[in-house]
Amino acid sequence: MTVHIITIDGPSGSGKGTLAAKIAAHYHFNLLDSGALYRLLGLSLFQKGLLDQLDTALSQCVDCALNLNIEFKSTENSILIFLDGIDVTNTIRTEQVGEYASKVAAVPELRKALFERQRAFIQAPGLVADGRDMATSIFPEAQAKIYLTASAESRAERRVKQLQGMGLDAKISDILSNIQARDKRDMERTVAPLKPADDAYIIDSSTIGIDEVFQLMVDYINSCIK
Ligand code: DC
Repeated sequence: MTVHIITIDGPSGSGKGTLAAKIAAHYHFNLLDSGALYRLLGLSLFQKGLLDQLDTALSQCVDCALNLNIEFKSTENSILIFLDGIDVTNTIRTEQVGEYASKVAAVPELRKALFERQRAFIQAPGLVADGRDMATSIFPEAQAKIYLTASAESRAERRVKQLQGMGLDAKISDILSNIQARDKRDMERTVAPLKPADDAYIIDSSTIGIDEVFQLMVDYINSCIK
C-alpha cells in the first residue's frame, strides 16, 4: 500500500502550520511539523549552554540532536509538545526560540542529525510534512508538493495576531524585521535553502483567506493522489 506524502514548504508566517494541520485532518494523515523539531533542538541546546558553541562543541550538539528527548501528544483539539518531559508547547513558539531554531537550522551537521527522525514520520495511510526543505531534501518522493508563500508584511500581521492569541506581547515592527532577517538566513544558507521544488505547486496567500487556500490545496492534492 502506498503511503502518501504531501509536503508544504514556505517561509515563516505563511500559514503553513494551520493549513498543514487542516490538510492532515482532512485526509486523516500523520502530521510532521519539522519547524518544531528545529525549535526543540534550539531550545535544548540553549538550555545546555551549547547554543553559542555550535562551532566549538559541534559533536556534542550533534549528540544532543540525535538523542533529543521529545514527545508529541495529541489531545482533542491540539498537539502538546514535550522536551525532557516538560510541556514546551507555547515556549517553542516564542520569537526567541524561533531565533535559536534559525541558528541551528543553518548548521549542516545538525540538519543531517534530524534527517532520520523526520523520515520516521512516514506512516500509513499518509503524511503531511510542513517545513522549509520537505520537498527539496527530506521527502523528494512526495506525490504532492506545495510551496505556500505570502508577503513579509502580511505574514508579520498574522504572526502578531497569533502571538497575541497566545497572550504574548508583540510589536509589528519587531516581528517584521525578525521575519525579514529569518527569510534572508533561511533562503541564503548553503544547505537546504528555502526555495520551491522544481515541481512544486506555488500558492501566494497574501490576499486570499485560509478557506480559499485550503480548497486550492485539496484540489491540487486530489489531482496528485488518485
Ligand atoms: O517554521 P518555523 O518558524 O517553526 O521554523 C523555525 C526555524 O526552523 C526557521 O528559522 C526555519 C527552520 N526550519 C528549517 O530550516 N527547516 C525546516 N524543515 C523547518 C524549519
